Amino acid sequence: MATKTYIVGNWKMHCSPAEASLLVNRLVTDVKRVSSDTVVVLCPPVLDLTTVRSELRGHDRFSIGVQNIYPMDEGAFTGETSAAMVKGLVEYAIVGHSERRHVFGEKDGLIAQKVSASMRNGLTPILCVGETKTDHANGHAKQVVFDQLEAGTSLLTEEELHDLIIAYEPVWAIGTGENAEAKDVAGMFARIREWFETKYSKTISQAIPILYGGSVNGGNAKMYLDLDDCNGCLVGGASTNYKDFAKIIEAV
Ligand code: PGA
Repeated sequence: MATKTYIVGNWKMHCSPAEASLLVNRLVTDVKRVSSDTVVVLCPPVLDLTTVRSELRGHDRFSIGVQNIYPMDEGAFTGETSAAMVKGLVEYAIVGHSERRHVFGEKDGLIAQKVSASMRNGLTPILCVGETKTDHANGHAKQVVFDQLEAGTSLLTEEELHDLIIAYEPVWAIGTGENAEAKDVAGMFARIREWFETKYSKTISQAIPILYGGSVNGGNAKMYLDLDDCNGCLVGGASTNYKDFAKIIEAV
């Protein structure tokens, strides 16, 4: 079984470097306890990475991730940032977040390349999967998630799967305050593990950390973290509120 718990904070497009510095300072002061085997991963905008890194010096339970990367290592790709460029600053990369899929139109093929680029550069990809409200209503959630898993892992070797994290984030639950019910999350986690077991092995299926994301806050995090199969949470809105995020970290 996966042994670590990941509390990942996706700040999205919030915080200037000065605000980032303040937020991290307040967070590390406010968090009273980080349980053993818990990894807190802050994913600020790229502009804030050096600031956050220097603020986190000496706080070894905190790591840093990026919210997105471009699959090529360098080149004429205006406005993009590569895994190769940030690898000295971060350890994780969120890939295939629903906003990248639905606001920016990223397709499975590009997401697979991003997962592969993260691995190639020594970053742990956090591959996000999840169904839309329509898929959910039509009973297609499982198939959508399976298709995203199939595509997202298509360029990885079996060896590399040991360094992959999956975040199940139903699109309808992201940023809406409409968090999924724990029993439905447990059901989807079981299906995701089944998918890995059928395609690879029981060992891989049990070793892969699976996180829940979608309107997680200080009040509901424990309900997910208490699920047998849950290895953490991916938190959006509540991660820029240091008091709420501290509560989530302490809920582990
Ligand atoms: P939310 O976002 O917690 O604001 O719903 C989750 C996410 O973006 O990963």
